[in-house]
Amino acid sequence: MIFYFSGTGNSLYAARLIAEHNNDRIISISEEMLQEKDCYEYKLEEEESIGFVFPIYAWGPPRMVIDFISRLSVPDADDHYVYSLATCAGNIGNTMKALGKALDNRGIKLQSAFSVVMPNNYNLLGDVDSREVAERKLDLAEEQIRGISKVIEAKQTGVFRIRKGPVPFILTGVINPLFNQHALDASRFYATDACTACGLCQDICPTRNIHVEGKPAWGSNCTQCLACINHCPVRAIEYGKYTLKKGRYVNPRVSG
Ligand SMILES: Cc1cc2nc3c(=O)[nH]c(=O)nc-3n(C[C@H](O)[C@H](O)[C@H](O)COP(=O)(O)O)c2cc1C
Ligand code: SF4
Ligand code: SF4
Repeated sequence: MIFYFSGTGNSLYAARLIAEHNNDRIISISEEMLQEKDCYEYKLEEEESIGFVFPIYAWGPPRMVIDFISRLSVPDADDHYVYSLATCAGNIGNTMKALGKALDNRGIKLQSAFSVVMPNNYNLLGDVDSREVAERKLDLAEEQIRGISKVIEAKQTGVFRIRKGPVPFILTGVINPLFNQHALDASRFYATDACTACGLCQDICPTRNIHVEGKPAWGSNCTQCLACINHCPVRAIEYGKYTLKKGRYVNPRVSG
């Protein structure tokens, strides 16, 4: 069973590749969370693995992933192989330590973890990759994920194939909490006159934070996944002035 979260498709792509290789099933964390349950209990088949696949946000897991894990219940978790794969644009700091702690609190032991560099979707401060760079990253990522799928199939424990970057304790211990406290802000999003009121942004927002009535309006429950701004088919969404001249990115190898 693979639990995944994805804003622009990279993590969904990775989860699908692993699931395909291991004949596994994937479950969307954001869709599960819409049910607003206090406890999410899953009974697994014998021998079934548990995977967590998600993007890195400011050197940590998305808050929704941690919220979901805090309500997760897996009977006999010790009998199952547990791994995680984070997709990122560069490096992940101590994300897997933070994830491991959150899982420990639920009696689930993280046994192996991986990070894979994929195209950047963060266009608020920096910019997305050029199409050529994105394609190259995707080719390399696919090869790596296929290799990782074999490690997962073999249920190898103690494999931590991750790129932490410099000063990981500061990135994850200091910057990530600041990001979660101050940066999850949707108030700067707006739609330009190019908006056709198609409703796509409303439908894909994992927190249902957007309501389209004529034009979209953003609420206060944002994870900064950037699905809305990157997916808009007519490029009508902007974030203050930060994104006016920036590119947009959606993983071209996933649909639906
Ligand atoms: C809010 C935000 C913060 C990000 N922070 C990081 C980061 O700290 N390190 C990194 O390597 N990539 C970072 N990224 C890039 C994404 O992790 C990367 O593009 C990821 O593959 C996107 O996955 P998705 O398509 O499944 O949403 C960030 C992206 C967003 C939207
Ligand atoms: S996805 Fe774009 S065009 Fe469609 S409603 Fe949202 S802003 Fe408007
Ligand atoms: S408002 Fe946009 S950035 Fe925020 S959670 Fe929804 S889709 Fe993601």
